[in-house]
Order: sequence, then structure tokens, then C-alpha cells
Amino acid sequence: MDSFEYRNGRLYCEEMSLDRIADEYGTPLYVYSRDALERAYLNYAQALEGRDALVCYAVKANSNIAVLNVLARLGAGFDIVSQGELERVLKAGGDPAKVVFSGVGKQPQEILRALEVGIHCFNIESEAELERINAVAAEVGAVAPVSFRVNPDVDAGTHPYISTGLKENKFGIAIERARDVYRHAATLDNVEVVGMDCHIGSQLTETRPFLDALERLLVLVDELAADGIQIRHLDLGGGLGVCYTDEQPPTPQSYIEAVLEKLGDRKLSLIFEPGRSIAANAGVLLTRVEFLKSNGDKHFAIIDGAMNDLIRPSLYSAYQEIIPVSLREEGETLNYDLVGPVCETGDFLGKDRQLNLQPGDLLAVCSAGAYGFVMSSNYNTRPRPAEVMVHDNQAYLVRKRESLGDLLHGEQLLPKDPH
Ligand code: LLP
Repeated sequence: MDSFEYRNGRLYCEEMSLDRIADEYGTPLYVYSRDALERAYLNYAQALEGRDALVCYAVKANSNIAVLNVLARLGAGFDIVSQGELERVLKAGGDPAKVVFSGVGKQPQEILRALEVGIHCFNIESEAELERINAVAAEVGAVAPVSFRVNPDVDAGTHPYISTGLKENKFGIAIERARDVYRHAATLDNVEVVGMDCHIGSQLTETRPFLDALERLLVLVDELAADGIQIRHLDLGGGLGVCYTDEQPPTPQSYIEAVLEKLGDRKLSLIFEPGRSIAANAGVLLTRVEFLKSNGDKHFAIIDGAMNDLIRPSLYSAYQEIIPVSLREEGETLNYDLVGPVCETGDFLGKDRQLNLQPGDLLAVCSAGAYGFVMSSNYNTRPRPAEVMVHDNQAYLVRKRESLGDLLHGEQLLPKDPH
């Protein structure tokens, strides 16, 4: 969270104090730092300088078009999982030739659109999907560049819901099957095998599982070479973790150095698909304390942000730091659960937090730039928050707050009953 710091007891994002931003745009509110996004992206790009490589930001982590545009201006590629994400990338000025298309259930019209704009590669997740892509490409006389997502069966050592590289997960093609699938693909007219990919999980805090996966992939690359199938690029997916509290994940630089060392003098080009490690610590969710209440020894701060705005704490028991926007010198520090207005016991953004609070106080939920707004919903008919991007001493509204009118748009009543 380097771009967020206290100055004279007030929390700033770059050169803007967060209380001023909240006064102007209201709460709950997502605030992103352009500088933090850029630096996080450049950590990858610089570590790969001089290599044939692409950093394809995983759009799912934060798909606001202003975020995508900031990264596109730096030359980023994008990892998408739907046509919707593709349209966002195009709208944000991203280069389709730097787009990789992941995901287990690509629809024919999504494949068509990706062929039409000329993406870099389809990351194929199953044999049935290979047939579909080949058929759709044949219909329009195209040849689709493809990679297979190999499931290397390694344990990423992360939360079971975000671990994806084990046999029991739905993702990818089992590594034992992969050689046959590649051989079959090589016989098809409307696909061209260009790569191999994997993604073993998210929020990894060690390099080891990545290297284990890479090792297994390289064995397969060599077997395929013996079959006359040349793999041009290796895509290692995303997954590098960030510091939410006291985790110490490897830096992109040390991770990439370890990968390059393992690759030795192989001529493979490289793709990475980082999401969280680019966006998480570039954003906060601002929320205001509505009421304080105590049931005996249990203290609650009822805040205006809820599980519909940021679901990670409820869904994964994820821990995100929650800090005051203005430090208070007087008053009592108590142990609070920070709970939202949604009618669910699981509606909390933090539990057992030592805070000195008064109604009206502003709080910042940290590391909320990834898997924050994108996972928000309208549960309890709550409009989703606005999003603001700070650049230096300016704040720009990059998504306006939803209105109640927006929420009802598209719904309609049944016709009147005849009697
Ligand atoms: N590539 C593929 C194929 C993926 O499935 C993912 C994330 C990424 C790249 C980006 O991974 P990252 O660098 O962000 O770890 N909602 C969960 C995280 C789900 C991740 C899903 N796949 C959370 O809030 O923790």
C-alpha cells in the first residue's frame, strides 16, 4: 500500500487526502492509485526487459476501463475470460494482439469475436473446447492460435477456493492426457498450436509451486518437440500473492528471476497473467461508520459498506486491514466487529479489530483494488459503489455510483390480470 500513507494524521492516496475524496464522492467508495498500478505493472515489465515476453494483466481482478487504460498505455497485454472482458479491453485501448483468452466455457460467439479482432491466443481448457474452436474458426475460414492449459497437479498451498492446479479442480487438461491432445490438435486445419499454459492458483506466497509446475511443463514441451510439435510460448498464469497483513510473497522480480533461471537458454517466449499482484494494493474501499453498538462485551461498528460491496471477507474469510482515514487522539480503543447493513450474519468486512471509533468516522479497507468492485453485487437492492482513480493531486470519477433507477432498469411487471 505504498501509495497510501498518513500525513499529519490523515490518510492520503498520492497527493489527495481520502477524507476530501469521500466528501466529494460519498461512501462506500473504491479509490485507486494510478501510480501504484503503474509501479506494480512495471515490476513485471522491467524484470522481463530484453526478453520476448508479454505481461497480460488478468482483467477479472479489476476490470474498470480506466484501470485497463492505464495499463494499456504502458503496453500491457490482457488475460480475459469472456467477451465482456474483451470489449472492455478494446474500449480501454488495449491491443487485441496482446490478449490471451482463458476460461473453461467459451461460447461460439465469444470465439468468433476473438477471431475477428485477432487475439494472441486461446488458452484451451478441454478437448471439447478444442473441437469447438476448430469448428468456429473453420466456419469463417480462420486459423485460431491455441495453447492448452495443462493441469500439472501441484498443490499451490493456498485457499481451496482459489487453488486451481490440482487434479480435483475443474481447470485445464490433465498433464498425462496433454501430449495426446496436442498431437490431435496438430492434425486439425483451423487451429495452430503456439503455446502451453497453466495457472495453479491465486495468492501464492512462495515460488516453489510455480517452479514445480514449470518443471512439469518443460518435460512436456520436450516430449512434444520430439513429436515435431514446437511450443513457442509458455504462459505461467497469474497467482503471485500480495501482502494483506503479514504475508511475505516473493516480489515479481525474484519470481521471474527464478523462472528465467529454470528456463536456461531455451528459446521459449513467456507470458504472465498477474491480476491481484497488480491491482490489490493499488486500491482501498472507503466506508463510513453509521452507528456503534455493544451487546455486553461485544462491540459492533455498523458501517455503510457491506458484503455486497466487498465479498472477500464473507466468502473466503479473507483478512484485509481496516484503518482509520483520520487518526483520533482522544477516545477509547475497543475491539470491534465491522459489520454492514446487509441482513446476513456473514455480512462483515472485519472482525476483532482494535479501533478508536466515533459515528461518522471514515475507514479504509486496504488491499481492495483486486477482486473488490468486480465481485460486488446488488444484494439487498444496494446500488454498487462509485470508483475513483487518483493521479497525483487529482481525483477522477471512473465509474459513477449506481442509482436506484439503474437497479430497477430492465425489470417489468406482469400484464394486468383480465378480471
Ligand atoms: N489467469 C487465470 C487463468 C486465472 O484463473 C486467474 C485468477 C488469474 C490469471 C489471475 O490470478 P491472480 O494473479 O489474480 O492471482 N476471487 C478470488 C481470486 C480468484 C482468482 C481466479 N483466477 C479472491 O478474491 O481471492
